[in-house]
Amino acid sequence: MSSLKTVFICQNCGNQNPKWQGKCPDCDSWNSFVEEEASGHSLHVLSETSPSEPVLLDQVLTVEDRIPTFKELDRVLGGGFVQGALILVGGAPGVGKSTLLLQASHAAAREKKVLYVSGEESERQTKLRGERLGLKSPNLLIAHEISLDIILSHLKKIKPAAAVIDSIQTLYKSDYNQAPGSVTQVRECAGELQRFCKQSGTTIVLVGHITKEGSIAGPRVLEHIVDVVLYFEGENHQSYRLLRAFKNRFGSTQETGIFEMTGCGLVEVQNPSGLFLQSRADSSGSVVVPVLEGQRALLMEVQALVSRSWYGIPKRTAAGIDLNRMAMILAVLEKRCGLNLGQSDVYLNVAGGMKIKEPAIDLAVAAAVVSSAKDQVIPQEWVMFGEVGLGGEVRAVPYADERIKEAARIGFKKAFLPKTNCSSLFNSKPDSIALVGIEKVQEILCNF
Ligand code: TYD
Ligand code: MG
Repeated sequence: MSSLKTVFICQNCGNQNPKWQGKCPDCDSWNSFVEEEASGHSLHVLSETSPSEPVLLDQVLTVEDRIPTFKELDRVLGGGFVQGALILVGGAPGVGKSTLLLQASHAAAREKKVLYVSGEESERQTKLRGERLGLKSPNLLIAHEISLDIILSHLKKIKPAAAVIDSIQTLYKSDYNQAPGSVTQVRECAGELQRFCKQSGTTIVLVGHITKEGSIAGPRVLEHIVDVVLYFEGENHQSYRLLRAFKNRFGSTQETGIFEMTGCGLVEVQNPSGLFLQSRADSSGSVVVPVLEGQRALLMEVQALVSRSWYGIPKRTAAGIDLNRMAMILAVLEKRCGLNLGQSDVYLNVAGGMKIKEPAIDLAVAAAVVSSAKDQVIPQEWVMFGEVGLGGEVRAVPYADERIKEAARIGFKKAFLPKTNCSSLFNSKPDSIALVGIEKVQEILCNF
């Protein structure tokens, strides 16, 4: 019996080693090496393709043929499915990936033939889901299949313009002994699909489940193989979902699509600011801040509650805002504004369960804390934004004009913003909103 050559492969990033190791030297994950048969398949497949000829850069045709889907998805993709692109959509189980892609397949099938392959649900289940979503199209074909070879033969026979494979972790190729979902299967199947996409011009969308740590289950190698990586995010107890581009060879990674999960599938949110501000509190500690989500400004509500502390060490809790950032702003308020919070618990929250990472919310956080500590309500038609430095100085933030326009559009009348942002805006701002330039964080205390 011939002894098979084996290698140890990290199931997270695909790193190969002749020996077992406890920790992957590449991605630092622990206990991720699994012994697999060494295979030379990738190389022989490559040698089968016809040799390429160099061409002049000027003569390369650049007309992109895109298949439009629907607005929010197209926004993230940069204008629809690019022909021949391999796209990966990642997300936690239950977030709505299958729903999104069945709806996207249906939308793309308006003009072209589309194949939706599910390895997880039978044709009947997919049909029932489609019925619930109100989908009906003569151009949409569905299949329940997990063998890559059979899927490829379907694709060659049907020649759809786009195909969805739900999910990459269910695919297997019989040449390899490993189970579906293992790094070898995922990498080889994705590699073969990538070659098929480029040769045939078919757009293929792969669904990938995400692990607890937030990466696509199994290999990170997948992110290198595909052209576009999108992540679908959302909390189970919230109805909205965000679609973000993490990598995009055909467009910007700055765009975010916003959807709402309803009884009849995902609906594009026309007015996201309205969604996040609905049922807004009119009590002290509430401030509205225009934050950037992709390249769009959205209005969100920051809430603070300052209450007397009954324990030795005052409690500080933040939901949706970085706790260290909160600690820094509280320290600045103590030192620069003389606000004594040593005997108070402070709770911060971004309404609607959103997470805000940009420092432009600092001024709103400071104002919300002061408003709650003094129990003074901030007028409902004000918005605030600006980064706060350790000296209490309020620093300029990018895209101030977008933020002001969005606030004015929703009907806000007054904006407090960094003075350095103000000067360039006075001429271009909408008439309905007044601007108040702030240099030092203590100035907000004089305004309410
Ligand atoms: P699904 O698309 O199956 O998620 P994934 O493929 O990412 O695992 O969606 C699962 C959830 O979406 C499920 O908990 C129910 C909810 N849902 C709705 O609220 N409305 C609908 O119309 C559909 C189809 C699903
Ligand atoms: Mg699914």
